[in-house]
Amino acid sequence: MAEVRLGPQDLIWPLFLIEGENRVEPIATMPGVERLTVDRAVAAARDAQALGIPLLALFPATPPALKTEDGREALNPANLVCTAVRAIKAAVPDIGVMCDVALDPYTTHGHDGLLIDDRIANDATVAVLVQQALVQAEAGADVIAPSDMMDGRIGAIRQAMDRAGHEQVLIMAYAAKYASAFYGPFRDAVGSSGTLKGASKSTYQMDSANTDEALREVALDLGEGADMVMVKPGLPYLDIVSRVKREFALPTFAYQVSGEYAMIEAAAAAGCLDRDRAMLEALLCFRRAGADGILTYAAHRVAAALAR
Ligand code: PBG
Repeated sequence: MAEVRLGPQDLIWPLFLIEGENRVEPIATMPGVERLTVDRAVAAARDAQALGIPLLALFPATPPALKTEDGREALNPANLVCTAVRAIKAAVPDIGVMCDVALDPYTTHGHDGLLIDDRIANDATVAVLVQQALVQAEAGADVIAPSDMMDGRIGAIRQAMDRAGHEQVLIMAYAAKYASAFYGPFRDAVGSSGTLKGASKSTYQMDSANTDEALREVALDLGEGADMVMVKPGLPYLDIVSRVKREFALPTFAYQVSGEYAMIEAAAAAGCLDRDRAMLEALLCFRRAGADGILTYAAHRVAAALAR
């Protein structure tokens, strides 16, 4: 009688990357998640493929020495993300790889865009994001995922990728991304929390009070050429997922973000609930709300549990 199901094919697995070889680093605020060197990420890609997870999302923990005011390491074709994309696609050609487009892992101030006179400069940022997307597509990314929330970036990236011969590369727009406290552990994971200048990203990410605005954001990104859209965070925003899916009937994804993951882990560690059951239930609820796929840090664990 179940109306929706959850399977490994519905999951996207985000991985955090570090430089070096054969090394993993725990992330204090995300129990069970580790930063991986590129060789370990390749091993994770093999696991993902064996488990039936179709897509990985890569996030670099950039060494502080490579962070700059303008985040120029984002444009280095030999940076950590691009190196990982090449290694994963060479070793596991059938797994999909998605790359985040935003400058926060690379900037000293931790913002997703360029700071000019203490303000995020939308249009100057878009020009840099286009270059970042091209570098990632060149490395072999299958999906480009702009998470920066600048206006006009989807169209600019689509045009530039088409001109450069990357027509087949898909765009998953973080279309409705809210300025959220639930991103805290992620910022620890990529090392941008200590440096974030100004308390919030609320001049470019959305106000949690808004629903209609989410539809306008989605409509803009689709009009500019997004192939699929994402709502983020996930569980507290299932009404947005549901509304977007119903209004646009397009591939709609949701991100169970770091804070949501950490809440389940912390509650389970405190003996408040059953970790695996709570996780499976939360992910099934994403599907019920209309999400075609879910980004979750528990993807491998969940896929293994589903296989059992
Ligand atoms: C960066 C980015 C963030 C996340 C994904 N891409 C953080 C932010 O916007 O500050 C959050 C993911 C998570 O919390 O799991 N633009």
